[in-house]
Amino acid sequence: MNQVIQLLKSHRSIRKFTDETIPEAWIEDVIKAGQAASTSSFLQTYSVISITDSDRKAQLAELTSNPYVATCSHFLVFCANVERLALAGEMHQTPFQGNNLELFLMASLDTALMAQNVMVAAESLGLGGVYIGGIRNQIAQVSELLQLPQFIYPVFGMCLGYPDHEPELKPRLPLAAVYHKERYQLTPSEEQELLAQYDKVVQAYYTKRTGGKRTDTWTESVMGYVKKPSRTHLREYLEKQGFRFD
Ligand SMILES: Cc1cc2nc3c(=O)[nH]c(=O)nc-3n(C[C@H](O)[C@H](O)[C@H](O)COP(=O)(O)O)c2cc1C
Repeated sequence: MNQVIQLLKSHRSIRKFTDETIPEAWIEDVIKAGQAASTSSFLQTYSVISITDSDRKAQLAELTSNPYVATCSHFLVFCANVERLALAGEMHQTPFQGNNLELFLMASLDTALMAQNVMVAAESLGLGGVYIGGIRNQIAQVSELLQLPQFIYPVFGMCLGYPDHEPELKPRLPLAAVYHKERYQLTPSEEQELLAQYDKVVQAYYTKRTGGKRTDTWTESVMGYVKKPSRTHLREYLEKQGFRFD
């Protein structure tokens, strides 16, 4: 195994940070590493907003319901951005007619790919971080705070800083559950058998990590997303922001 694979396999989300501030040059470098990610049709449909001001981080910690947003060194907000394409169109007297579900998906995917490069680059420098999907809890308020123009939306945030804890690696699904050869190989009952095995692994992990306070299995832990849809305000917000889904 080489060092890159070793680094990738040692990822764990960091939610406790020391008071130390990451040098701005490092942040710029990890963002540049993010920009090196593959990007659909060379469109580069993303922007990153870095928040270091304590009051603004505290406000965002409230809005996202994630307290570590206030205590990290840099809170990065990764935005999907198709405004740039609309602006390019204007430069060539061409109205923005390519605004549809496919473009929304491309912009969101490209944002995620660049962000994951940023995370890995930061980890390679000994920093740690955690994604913050909670940015979409109160997405309209966040957008107002960040003064986001039309055609831009925050996909997720990312806390970055110097780690002040060393959490255990969180066990992933067995390879057989996610990796297939030539065709989709698992029957539903085979999948459930693998999930039942994985449940035991996750239960042991939670029990150990929380000293017995949390003992749920993986299939139990995902029930919140099975029982009801989440963040049902998103479509209305995104349409107001100018995104289209046809
Ligand atoms: C898009 C995305 C959004 C996430 N949002 C949050 C969040 O709002 N709060 C949080 O504490 N963790 C968040 N996480 C971190 C996941 O909970 C974490 O990656 C997962 O439990 C696996 O743990 P690990 O990263 O330590 O391996 C998010 C992760 C991703 C990829």
